[in-house]
Amino acid sequence: MHKYSQGCKAGVAGVSGYSGRELLRILARHPGVEAMEIPRESEAGAAVKEHTLDIVFLATPHEVSLEAAPAALAAGARVIDLSGAFRLKHAAHYDRWYKMRHTRPDLLAEAVYGMPELDRTGIAAARLVANPGCYPTSVILALAPLLASQLVDGDAGIVCDSKSGVSGAGHKPAAGTHFSAVQENFRAYGILEHRHVPEMVQALGVPFGDFQFTAHLLPVDRGILSTIYVKLARSASLEEIHAIYTARYPDGGFVRIRRQAPDLHGVQRTNYCDIHVTLSSDSRRAVIVSAIDNLVKGAAGQAVQNMNLMLGFPEDEGLQ
Ligand SMILES: NC(=O)c1ccc[n+]([C@@H]2O[C@H](COP(=O)([O-])OP(=O)(O)OC[C@H]3O[C@@H](n4cnc5c(N)ncnc54)[C@H](OP(=O)(O)O)[C@@H]3O)[C@@H](O)[C@H]2O)c1
Repeated sequence: MHKYSQGCKAGVAGVSGYSGRELLRILARHPGVEAMEIPRESEAGAAVKEHTLDIVFLATPHEVSLEAAPAALAAGARVIDLSGAFRLKHAAHYDRWYKMRHTRPDLLAEAVYGMPELDRTGIAAARLVANPGCYPTSVILALAPLLASQLVDGDAGIVCDSKSGVSGAGHKPAAGTHFSAVQENFRAYGILEHRHVPEMVQALGVPFGDFQFTAHLLPVDRGILSTIYVKLARSASLEEIHAIYTARYPDGGFVRIRRQAPDLHGVQRTNYCDIHVTLSSDSRRAVIVSAIDNLVKGAAGQAVQNMNLMLGFPEDEGLQ
């Protein structure tokens, strides 16, 4: 029996948005959690006290999370923030990438980056979890095992070409995500300026100048497909590479190593990340393809996976 066998109380801020709505949908079928909405007009700390919340999900813009997370923590709750407000370790990076002055470097130091497959112990003990971004989830999970194996020739650079469905932009209408702007269309955006780049570089421990990332907008509702190109430091067999990935992501988890290149249909509305690696005939170049649902493994599903680790539930509770 886990600590919260009597039921744990979770509050969700941002429920009119795409990620907040997805969180409520997942938490509704979680047997150990009673979930409630934190209305836009409520102050997070007051909501924690009034409803004696154990944990708070912030599915809000980063400026909102920057204020709400400290308030919820001070009121005694643990916090999982889905925004980028606590993902980067250096406050100065927020000036450049988020156009925001970060006022809580102490919480940047404390926050644990919430990628369960890479840091279960850290997440389980955390008071504040910075839930990863959607593109970073697809890229970091795809690259981390290969980088850790020292097989990547870093000097040759890493190229990531990622494509997302329109729900990645949130529920607020905008000219660039209007139906007529998106359907039958396909375009790159944020070239060399995407705010997920420092997050990926930080999590992967690669030099900024060796890492290229371009985001694209797909004319679909949900899903991210990333195609990643790396040069290997030495030739390697597909069996060796497969063994590296399956050691990091054993069968039965949410990261599945596939024998064929994944697609969006295989992961939509699931918490899975599907990954496939192809080797060139000289065994010196690898192309890694990964697919996730941006609102599930890229946001709400991963947040619940983190909550499960923090509160001692089975990691996949509510997510199957
Ligand atoms: N969409 C994705 O694929 C995805 C993936 C990973 C992470 N994220 C991150 O998760 C967060 C939520 O993303 P989303 O796509 O779900 O956004 P969204 O659809 O735009 O929803 C944002 C939510 O925040 C609320 N909100 C906006 N301004 C507020 C304020 N000043 N005070 C209180 N609440 C406010 C909105 O309420 P109103 O409806 O009243 O405006 C809405 O409920 C963002 O930080 C985003 O970067 C998104």
